Amino acid sequence: MLSLSYSSLAIVLCATAGHLVSAHTQLYNVAIGTTSYKRGEYIQPVVGPYLNPVANFTTNEIRCRNTNGASPQTPYLSVKAGSEFSVVWHRSSDSPSDNMVAPSHRGPCMIYMGKVEKNPDDIKWFKIYELGFNKDTDKWCSDVARDNHGRVDVVIPKDIEDGKYLLRTELLALHRANHVWGAQFYPNCVQLDVSGSSNKFLDPPPEFVEFPGAYKSDDPGILYKYWQDKGMNYVIPGPKVYPPTKPN
Ligand SMILES: *[C@@H]1O[C@H](CO)[C@@H](O)[C@H](O)[C@H]1NC(C)=O
Repeated sequence: MLSLSYSSLAIVLCATAGHLVSAHTQLYNVAIGTTSYKRGEYIQPVVGPYLNPVANFTTNEIRCRNTNGASPQTPYLSVKAGSEFSVVWHRSSDSPSDNMVAPSHRGPCMIYMGKVEKNPDDIKWFKIYELGFNKDTDKWCSDVARDNHGRVDVVIPKDIEDGKYLLRTELLALHRANHVWGAQFYPNCVQLDVSGSSNKFLDPPPEFVEFPGAYKSDDPGILYKYWQDKGMNYVIPGPKVYPPTKPN
């Protein structure tokens, strides 16, 4: 009887741990054109065994899901300003059948860059991409990326300065966002060495923010009635995207 309840407990625990692993997500690959680079090459490792979301986004963990800014252990991937750059999220393998994140974990994606300065605490971040909710298709960015096997393509802006950068990817899952501290942030950082830029920012320059600091617990895109509002009037957190997109 006793051994039976122990084994039932073990099954419950394994199922719970398995659920945690499979629900969550991480930046698994990045690609320039058809050349792909795996997690562990230029993508900083995350801290923690189960790829948990950031426990408290007012701490340094919000930068890269570890406590660092730039990491001396991670090399820099050379990339040309103005070129297309792909980021690919997966749960636990990079097979096309790995569906990136549990379908219940829906929300926007945001991609930031920040120039690496001498002091890693000094990184000023700017947003280069965001995608929220599309009411015509009823899809969040997480749905669009999952449909595309976890992949989102962005352009490294031409109008920046050459140098070493962190590119910070972020998925935000909103299923618990109706509670303060309920929104689940999944950031990751990849280290880039950018060349071929115009070596100056456009006027006006990007809107720079700090992590932690960019997000407040009651921002309308972080404290959000996800189940009630169903994507309507959703405001993506953080600064405006740089460079501004031209109105059609
Ligand atoms: C996060 O940290 C802030 C202070 O830095 C604290 O006020 C808040 O309660 C924390 N939230 C959680 C969920 O621990």
